[in-house]
Amino acid sequence: MSERKIVFSGIQPSGNLHIGNYLGAIKRWVEMQDQYDCIYCIVDMHAITVPHDPKVLHETTLELAALLIACGIDPERCVLFVQSHVSAHAEMTWIFNCITPLGWLERMTQYKEKAARQESVSTGLLDYPVLQASDILLYQTDLVPVGEDQRQHIELTRDIAGRFNHLFGETFKLPEALISEVGARVMGLDDPTKKMSKSITSRYHAIRLLDDPDTIRTAIRRAVTDSGREIIFSDAPEKAGVNNLLTIYQAFTGKSREEIEAHFAGKGYGDLKREVAEVVIEALRPIQERYRAIRAERGYIDEILRRGAEEARRRSEPTLTQAKHRVGFVLPEELQHHV
Ligand code: TYM
Repeated sequence: MSERKIVFSGIQPSGNLHIGNYLGAIKRWVEMQDQYDCIYCIVDMHAITVPHDPKVLHETTLELAALLIACGIDPERCVLFVQSHVSAHAEMTWIFNCITPLGWLERMTQYKEKAARQESVSTGLLDYPVLQASDILLYQTDLVPVGEDQRQHIELTRDIAGRFNHLFGETFKLPEALISEVGARVMGLDDPTKKMSKSITSRYHAIRLLDDPDTIRTAIRRAVTDSGREIIFSDAPEKAGVNNLLTIYQAFTGKSREEIEAHFAGKGYGDLKREVAEVVIEALRPIQERYRAIRAERGYIDEILRRGAEEARRRSEPTLTQAKHRVGFVLPEELQHHV
């Protein structure tokens, strides 16, 4: 058990989970369960760094747990829990806040993008990557499977761990990002120059995991392509739309680029879109069926999350205690009884 490498990853319960989240992260999480010691977290504390509706957050947290299980996350083989259930994450963040230079956070690309969209920026939004570093470092994680957009946050996590170790002595393992070759950056269907994002809610931007077949067909039929005819993988800016559709097809079918290009040779964009839509619909169908069955079973998810939180508390506690000791806090267990 303990020789297996430790994998940690997280996902925000902001609803609208899309095929980018699935291909960039969740699909990989599922595949890693057999080989690694996996810990997966629903990061509700990250979700409140931008304005949110409490009722929606409450609902999407439970919905996400069910959806992850429907996608194949197996609570018997990994730890699945909600971040706010384990107070070590907040405590660890405070300690890391005090050693993380402000400039490191102000440089984060995701912060700059998100901040540009807000009228008023919360301290929490700036601090988002420090909380993420705490998530990862509390479990002495080896590998962090994420999409391409998270690369910078994992680098920062390593920097924070390195700084703590340097200041107070070796305490944290430096984790590595694991980014898939295919599907690490699924682009928006309506604008293939922008990554598919939960926060973009325009109608034909994303394919959500719970979308019905007709919605999926329409979104893919409307996907922006180019005025050419060639169905090839290409980095050329004008081919971004076709390249994105082919990448989605590749990630869902597992076929090679050569096979796919040969398959579509001589066909038109209409054929490409029809086939991509069918592949996506068929891949999502079993997930959607399992999701409905899980949601119908009351108490099932609650029990999993209760057990997951207990296990996460148990696993994070030694590292948090060690970090507190290293910075000089008096540990409650050190206090002697008055005689
Ligand atoms: P979130 O919820 O925004 O994204 C969850 C995962 O989906 C990936 N992703 C994508 N992959 C491919 N194409 C896309 N268009 C796309 N959009 C999103 C993200 O890279 C991510 O892997 N900050 C994290 C949450 C987090 C976390 C952690 C991750 C909090 N603590 C600790 C790892 C370890 C995030 O972006 O979540």
